[in-house]
Amino acid sequence: MPGAPGVGDPYYPGDGNGGYDVSHYDIRLTYTPESDRLSGTTTILATPTAELSSFNLDFALDIRWVRVNNHPARVERDAADPTEVVVTPKAALREGEPVTVVVRYAGTPSEVAVDGFTAWKRTATGALAVDEPHIAEWWFPSNDHPTDKATYDVSVEVPDDVVALSNGVLEGTGTQRAGWTRWNWRSTEPQATYLAFLAIGDYDVRHSTAPSGLPVVNAYDTALGDLRPSAEASVERTPEVVEFLESLFGPYPFEAQGGVVTRDLGFALENQTRSVYDAGFFSRGTNLSVVVHENAHQWFGDSVALGKWSDIWLNEGFASYAEFLWSEHSGEGTAAELAQYLYDSIPAGDEFWQVLPGDPGPENQFHSAVYDRGALAVHALRTAVGDEVFFEILRTWLDAKRGGHGTIEEFVELAERLSGRQLDEVFEVWLFTKGKPQAGPNGAEGA
Ligand code: ARG
Ligand code: ZN
Repeated sequence: MPGAPGVGDPYYPGDGNGGYDVSHYDIRLTYTPESDRLSGTTTILATPTAELSSFNLDFALDIRWVRVNNHPARVERDAADPTEVVVTPKAALREGEPVTVVVRYAGTPSEVAVDGFTAWKRTATGALAVDEPHIAEWWFPSNDHPTDKATYDVSVEVPDDVVALSNGVLEGTGTQRAGWTRWNWRSTEPQATYLAFLAIGDYDVRHSTAPSGLPVVNAYDTALGDLRPSAEASVERTPEVVEFLESLFGPYPFEAQGGVVTRDLGFALENQTRSVYDAGFFSRGTNLSVVVHENAHQWFGDSVALGKWSDIWLNEGFASYAEFLWSEHSGEGTAAELAQYLYDSIPAGDEFWQVLPGDPGPENQFHSAVYDRGALAVHALRTAVGDEVFFEILRTWLDAKRGGHGTIEEFVELAERLSGRQLDEVFEVWLFTKGKPQAGPNGAEGA
């Protein structure tokens, strides 16, 4: 009867919630950079998958009230896990009957820690809600797991001197009161909670149209200084990168493109339709690798999400391998050369080889082994099955799982079916066995 407090993720048991599917989030907020105050309402459209006497939301800010189907509902926070909010509606919810959940809240996200960590970042002129695997808890209540995707309307009112950026298409800006502007963004393809983002601050926003006709919105922190030209020389090429990736992976899965270059992040993230990059990536001139990596995630990670967080190789291995393919496309070294060099350059005794890309553990989800050994695993698969079958596997996977999610087990099954081969050897050795594989990614004979 009560919905489960998690979906059973092996790394994050509290992530997501049992008993319902969200179809849409309407997030309507006001944000004040000066005080880091965030307030507003999120309206969730969901369908129970079981009869529910109560259900959970994942959220860390203070809640003023919740209504379910227009009736006030009881709200309690789980003492053991402050991100678990238990909502008890007036009447039990019936399986299959759509519900509307309205959550009114306010808080200072930078002051909210979960397990001692705060993912929300205040910046010199605003804030960033950009992180993986957890960020939603700091700005909207959700069913926080990549297996429950939804569409989004994100509307944020901010002081006139800053901008508010999010996913998808800008449906317009408007003013309701002097000194404030409301930015209205819409993301129309199924999107995972961690890929929804907010970037508020002083940015130059550039709107254009890709050759494909898709709207492109890029934004640059106005204080990038001497990194601005290299950032632009990289991120303005997003449509070219997307065209290249389409030639490998099939049609771009979303309604818009773009990138946001910011300071104060320390990493890059593949937010759906609009990746966010720390300016540091552009400190040595153009960096198309990072643009290729984040845009490859639009297919591997965003369109086809992880079935569980331990499947992170399906995101990072493939996005990293796309960088090898771009290098080859750019005449800077073939994928085979890059893979061989990487394999040869890491000694067998290095602890790098002790992290399993196929199950790295939550503490090593973004370890270089997931990226680099993960990319070598992809190349080893290519070596095993040959180019034609390799690219057929990728395109079939992306087409079959588009808008949904998948697991490593399902990927292996597909690769075996399309190649007509038993590939245990390749996947066991490269993903699930500690130590440096005896044969390199180009096979025993090497490149
Ligand atoms: N998926 C991101 C990328 O590949 C990595 C995010 C790392 N997360 C973090 N909090 N540092 O580029
Ligand atoms: Zn990545």
